[in-house]
Amino acid sequence: MPGFIEAWHILLHSNNSVIDVETKMLLLYSKPLKKNEATMTATTHTLFPAQELADNESKAVSLEGKNILVCRANGEYYAVENNCTHQRAELTEGRIRNCFLSCPLHGVRFDLRTGIPKGELTKVALKTYPISVSETGHLELELS
Ligand code: FES
Repeated sequence: MPGFIEAWHILLHSNNSVIDVETKMLLLYSKPLKKNEATMTATTHTLFPAQELADNESKAVSLEGKNILVCRANGEYYAVENNCTHQRAELTEGRIRNCFLSCPLHGVRFDLRTGIPKGELTKVALKTYPISVSETGHLELELS
């Protein structure tokens, strides 16, 4: 195949537009890859003490203009956007059972672990946020 490769190189160097494409590709591939940009720009917010929330309870918080619902279910903490993906109702008064949060308006149930809804009213998942308990016992939420 050397003849073919040489012919290909001659074509590349005799046609400026092809060389432009080759140059752009080289630039593209030589650009250093950023290590998980989402993680690099994430901000950790310290919230209230975790013990303030009992099982099957929730509390709304406002962070960086986002309305977020912090929930506790089966001893674990979850954070989801506080607006239903069906008709944007606030989920604050929604009932929590077995790791599912029900929308108070029409009853769609969202899995707190994934944000995925059950039923036919909406197929759009709630946005979820990483949340954990700090060494001091406060909830810490990551926003990116
Ligand atoms: S607004 Fe939530 S189910 Fe309709």
